[in-house]
Amino acid sequence: MTAATKPLPRPSVSPTELYKTLPPAFGHDALALFGFNPNYVNLNHGSYGSLPLPVRAFCDELTDQVESNPDKFLRIDYIHYWNRVRERVAKLIGVETDECVIVNNTSHGLATILRNLILKEGDILIGATTTYGSVYQTLKYIADIPPHPILLTFNLQFPTSRAKIIQDFEEHIKQITKTGDATGERKIVALIDSIAGYPGAFLPWKEMVAICRKAGVISVIDGAHSIGQELDMNLSEAQPDFWVSVCPPALLVGCRNETSVPKELSQMALFKEGKCYSLCSEEKPASYQVVHPHPGHLSLSHDSDFQGPQDFVKLFEWTGTVDYVPHLSIGAAIDFREWLGGEHKINAYIHALAIAGGKHLAERLGTDVMDPDGQCGTALSGDVESTDEVLQIFIDTLILQWQTFAMAFKHNGKWWVRCSAQIWNEISDFDVIANALKDACSKVEEHVAQRNN
Ligand SMILES: Cc1ncc(COP(=O)(O)O)c(C=O)c1O
Repeated sequence: MTAATKPLPRPSVSPTELYKTLPPAFGHDALALFGFNPNYVNLNHGSYGSLPLPVRAFCDELTDQVESNPDKFLRIDYIHYWNRVRERVAKLIGVETDECVIVNNTSHGLATILRNLILKEGDILIGATTTYGSVYQTLKYIADIPPHPILLTFNLQFPTSRAKIIQDFEEHIKQITKTGDATGERKIVALIDSIAGYPGAFLPWKEMVAICRKAGVISVIDGAHSIGQELDMNLSEAQPDFWVSVCPPALLVGCRNETSVPKELSQMALFKEGKCYSLCSEEKPASYQVVHPHPGHLSLSHDSDFQGPQDFVKLFEWTGTVDYVPHLSIGAAIDFREWLGGEHKINAYIHALAIAGGKHLAERLGTDVMDPDGQCGTALSGDVESTDEVLQIFIDTLILQWQTFAMAFKHNGKWWVRCSAQIWNEISDFDVIANALKDACSKVEEHVAQRNN
């Protein structure tokens, strides 16, 4: 283990004591709230999130409570925590508490929705060229197995503008629906990112949802990066059919990012309640409480008593034995963010830094940012093919030699890098990543030269 990766003794930061004090200024002073190795410059909150120390202290305390009497916690106390978390998340995103449930992560939530849709031959799934890899694979898998719905891909290439995306999406939907549907029963399902992962671009998802609604298309929103980055969310107004996020997601992207709860710590899915029953059969994996509505179904549950829609929330209460502490820490994460000064204050800092940092990085690299607002990423130079070896050179050089990271990727024929600006970052961190990227690029050039010899 190198000095950079060796874990440091973890300072215990009691939220109760900490929140009696004023929060630190954003920038390097805020590093005291996280457990990073002092040599590590974290510009990649967007991928995995980062657990604030007071939230970690909350998790440790809760774990102690679980371990002191697992039966009491899991059979009696757990549900109260779970309901409280749903209540707070629902408020944050503007929905009713019982429209909101907690799932393991975004991939799990989206797979739950997509794989439970009752589809038939001729139904259509719509993904995009920027759909997150594992989510796109889920769409492909569903198209691969009977009854083989058709998968159509919306071509989204950056740089572009929001107006052009809306126009192209409307046209795409128009082309798909223009043949009409003789049966009147065809389902068309569009998977739409709120903020794409690569490049990290904020999409006009609400306008895209409105287009779907008008055309009778079911909208499933991958909102992995929304909570913490999109302010004043009101999903009751936007009215997607399904929406899934990470608490708090973070992504960022050459752009803005968020802080707070560890990404793996809390994810949630939201379904519009009425639709869930008519479109989806159950959660996945099956909940202990699922009731099978089909007469004659070989189930040991109370099928014969089934009287109508089952309780949506109950489908997600218990889907197998896992560590539920991360799910239950969402409230502690929201407390942390409120203590820092709230969503608007956090967002103002990270957004401004992302834009300034992206420009600074582009200057240092002699390249460009993806769009004039610096929202999506900074270009790298060179026209090298994206291979596993090339990506590994970036990963090894940045992480092992320079103790920093930001994801480099090829999009629309060019190489880009996505940096997450966070409350602990300052503009000088972009100098660190600039030096690391220059080194990685020259190693990639050497690799390509050797390969071509
Ligand atoms: C747009 C998008 N969707 C889905 C995911 C998957 O998230 P998770 O790891 O929570 O399943 C990511 C991961 O960063 C993402 O960027």
